[in-house]
Amino acid sequence: MTPARFRALWQTLLPIGQDPAGDGWLRYGWSEADLACRAWFTAQAQARGLQVTTDRNGNLYAWWGDPAGDGAVVTGSHFDSVPHGGAYDGPLGIVSGLLAVDLLAERGVTPHRPLAVAAFAEEEGSRFGVACLGSRLLTGALDPAAARKLTDPAGVSLADAVSTAGLDPAALGPEPELLARWGYFIELHVEQGRALVDRGAAVGVASAIWPHGRWRIEITGEGNHAGTTAMADRHDPMLTTAYTVLAANKEARLRGGHATVGRIEVAPNATNAVPARVTAWLDARAPDQQTLTGLVEAVTVRAQDRADRDGTAVTVAAESVSPVVDFDVTLRDRLAARLGDAPVLPTGAGHDAGVLSGHVPTAMLFVRNPTGVSHAPGEHATDDDCAAGVVALADVLAELACQ
Ligand code: GLV
Ligand code: MN
Ligand code: MN
Ligand code: MN
Repeated sequence: MTPARFRALWQTLLPIGQDPAGDGWLRYGWSEADLACRAWFTAQAQARGLQVTTDRNGNLYAWWGDPAGDGAVVTGSHFDSVPHGGAYDGPLGIVSGLLAVDLLAERGVTPHRPLAVAAFAEEEGSRFGVACLGSRLLTGALDPAAARKLTDPAGVSLADAVSTAGLDPAALGPEPELLARWGYFIELHVEQGRALVDRGAAVGVASAIWPHGRWRIEITGEGNHAGTTAMADRHDPMLTTAYTVLAANKEARLRGGHATVGRIEVAPNATNAVPARVTAWLDARAPDQQTLTGLVEAVTVRAQDRADRDGTAVTVAAESVSPVVDFDVTLRDRLAARLGDAPVLPTGAGHDAGVLSGHVPTAMLFVRNPTGVSHAPGEHATDDDCAAGVVALADVLAELACQ
């Protein structure tokens, strides 16, 4: 696999969903850009003679071999992005899967089991708020009735979004028979830190995913005039929010976790009005569940204390929570050895692989990211490293599919 060959296929996907102003990618689940990515996937699969199927939740598969066969080796990732995200988070795993199939075919490999490249729906949760939507629905980790009612910021429900895309919203839900036919799931992903740079390795293997989640913090106060309301008379939810953000930062640093407030909504969002309400989303992560629980509890208590002082009211509700994932140790060590003692590392980022790992022996490969940046346009991987990732993935798929 030459870097130029990786680039040639990569280039064909790159323009889809790119911000015309050059500020990253906007590929939200079931948006026009996402549908264009899905059409790209179908065309690429068909050009390779792979059979394309869709499950009840709109996750796509390109099959080499019988889709109804047992012990399938499935690889893949997601097309969707965070707002103004990078190009690699997600799509790299799908493009690498297609190129790995090409390599195996050229090597004359005949898989003893079905092999599939998968594209999972709405992994980032940027549109409907729940991360790993497609894989959670597939595994039964998310109630389809609740999922149908999720709405995007424009008020469009998930049910409406999937029906616009030609899917039956009533059919959303778990598919245990499908999962039972999978022997392995392998997700290749751009690294979202600099551990591989520090270790001088192009490819690594995941050991674990930190437990993490999203909490919706609603702070209600009293809307009022910015010019005429005495400072002492205010019940300003923005003040409570500001304090809560600082408290989250402090608690995360003290406890060795990560806390981020990357999204807020303010009502009525007027320069000259004390706000009536603020909604803030806390993203919290930690190396272990106890630390994560302690972190979120501490932030909640401190937000509530501050609300008492500000005369505001606060509620904190979990929106999507993911427990710790320890990837299959035997598989992990086997892949690391197969790849010449590749570094083994944990990550604080969530992945469909984490959701699937409770159902199928699962592993992840990471490709070095020289910037270490992710969920932002600066996310990067060189074509040389991406090509090395394809070779590593092909080697791993060959080993698993030919046993
Ligand atoms: C998924 O990309 C996450 O936010 O960790
Ligand atoms: Mn991501
Ligand atoms: Mn991802
Ligand atoms: Mn992410």
